[in-house]
Amino acid sequence: MSLLQTEGLTRRYAGLVAVDAVTLAVPQGGVHAVIGPNGAGKTTFFNMLSGLVPPSEGTMRFAGQDITRGKAHRRAALGMARTFQNIRVFTEMTVLENVLTGLHAGMACGLAGVVLRLSGFRRAERAAVVASRAALDAVGLADHADALSGSLSYGDQRRLEIARAMVAKPRLLLLDEPAAGMNPAETESLAGLVRRIADGGTTVLLVEHDMGFVMGLSDSVSVLNFGRLIYSGTPAQARSEPAVVEAYLGARLAEKLRARHG
Ligand SMILES: Nc1ncnc2c1ncn2[C@@H]1O[C@H](COP(=O)(O)OP(=O)(O)OP(=O)(O)O)[C@@H](O)[C@H]1O
Ligand SMILES: [Mg+2]
Repeated sequence: MSLLQTEGLTRRYAGLVAVDAVTLAVPQGGVHAVIGPNGAGKTTFFNMLSGLVPPSEGTMRFAGQDITRGKAHRRAALGMARTFQNIRVFTEMTVLENVLTGLHAGMACGLAGVVLRLSGFRRAERAAVVASRAALDAVGLADHADALSGSLSYGDQRRLEIARAMVAKPRLLLLDEPAAGMNPAETESLAGLVRRIADGGTTVLLVEHDMGFVMGLSDSVSVLNFGRLIYSGTPAQARSEPAVVEAYLGARLAEKLRARHG
């Protein structure tokens, strides 16, 4: 059975269909990519999956549950975590504190969280710090735990976001352009990290423009163009699929025309 399944998922904005009837199944395990030209609807798709934006139409199932109308924190409690296209770390907090907030998203909701806080606050807090340090270690930031997050390099802030998403041991990790702004060495090390995360049992669904990164890492690729799913299959076949090639060529041509004519 799929870990995640969308049926006819659609999001409209005034006069625009950002995501158009996308039916997509993400299996349990592995690394899966959603690609497509700028404005294809990738982030909007992720925003619907994670509960930030309600769909106009369609349904979503995750881990055997209908999550179409569930709130973001409920999805987190079910084991979904994400990072953002534009980094969202609390720059005035330390690196460790940032990772701790990733646990509160799951812990602070519901009765279990309240009981935990009342009965074993100290123990829970210690356990949270241990888990957060382990998450930082996994992304190579253990030595920066007490640094202010704003002092980290751009690439390290992206890793910090991944640690914060991973600390609660999610079943599904959504990464929106994790390699954006990284140099080739950082991108290569990120690919290793994503592979380790998948090998550790967390299914990864990522949006990325870096094709070398996507093709070398992904077990499956889905392509969005103008909100529509135009391909879903192996990365190798995506390269030779006429609709995919056309979508990218069309986007490149449009960019050139824009550059030439303002
Ligand atoms: N809140 C919003 N209000 C109106 N239009 C929106 C909104 N969010 C997204 N859109 C539009 O929906 C379309 C899809 O945007 P989206 O950000 O999902 O694309 P994307 O594939 O993530 O692009 P990129 O690769 O540039 O990040 C775009 O045309 C965008 O302008
Ligand atoms: Mg986007």
